[in-house]
Amino acid sequence: MNAPTLHGAFARAAVAGLTSDPKALSPKWLYDARGAGLFEAITDLPEYYPTRTEIALLRACADELVAGIGVDAAVVEFGAGSSLKTPILLGALERPAIYAPIDISETYLEQSAGGIRARFPDLTVRPVLGDFMRLAALPQQVMAHEGPKVGFFPGSTIGNLDPDAMHAFLCSARTLLGEGARFIVGVDVPKSADILIPAYDDAQGVTAAFNLNLLQRMNTELGADFDLDAFRHEARWNAAASRVEMHLVSKLAQKVRVHGVTVAFQTGESIHTESSCKLSPEAFLARAEKAGWRSGGLWRDPQNLFSIHRLII
Ligand code: TRP
Repeated sequence: MNAPTLHGAFARAAVAGLTSDPKALSPKWLYDARGAGLFEAITDLPEYYPTRTEIALLRACADELVAGIGVDAAVVEFGAGSSLKTPILLGALERPAIYAPIDISETYLEQSAGGIRARFPDLTVRPVLGDFMRLAALPQQVMAHEGPKVGFFPGSTIGNLDPDAMHAFLCSARTLLGEGARFIVGVDVPKSADILIPAYDDAQGVTAAFNLNLLQRMNTELGADFDLDAFRHEARWNAAASRVEMHLVSKLAQKVRVHGVTVAFQTGESIHTESSCKLSPEAFLARAEKAGWRSGGLWRDPQNLFSIHRLII
């Protein structure tokens, strides 16, 4: 994806999302260079349990996770971010051959590819800049690879997809990875709102800054005139949909210009910027099975905060 295409897509998505009712934007637009940095800071917050829980769980179950995969695997990571968790998987595999991280953020991709190359000098690293939801094919080298294929999708990013997108993604991952593949997916599970809300609305205000950065990005890249002080970050637990929702709430009635379009906000009206769906193992497996996967293993931490699934075709 080159810069003008990405800019055009962001402009179209922003105008479409802000003129729809209710107002909403895809979470992928949160990850510009500054957003990517703020997200990294979120993963270190005391309130944000998923990252450290998943890392500890991956370490504990790594050998079981890769059992039976054998040598020469190609690992494809969807929404790789900083590839923080990847060395655990690559280190457990016996002589992995290829690593293909896919991410929409160039900053993330360069950082992660460089780090992995340095740690695994014998590995071929093939980064893919783009949206994993719109991927028509994997790099030629991965498609033609005869060794085992392993998909990796940690971070509960799967929960950021709405049900239709989740189904489409699980089907597309099955087609892309092909017969015989394993798919390792980290999934956050339902729990008390007392734990969930602070994870998405921390005391230091890092998550608020991350969410509000979307308005700054529209100002900078689309010439919008958002007043960042006129909006506040809010995390809501939607029990019926089993998801935490991130909103940017207008503090007052106001009008904003975005890419030549006037957008009116009422007091308290919000832009829905992200959902983080929490899925029990049963709920996730029901969806995976609908998309043609079978369960090939499930691991949970002792406190039951997070889950790692191994899917097989
Ligand atoms: N996959 C992460 C999650 O659902 C993404 C995330 C964490 C996030 N905190 C966020 C996205 C705050 C937007 C805002 O937990």
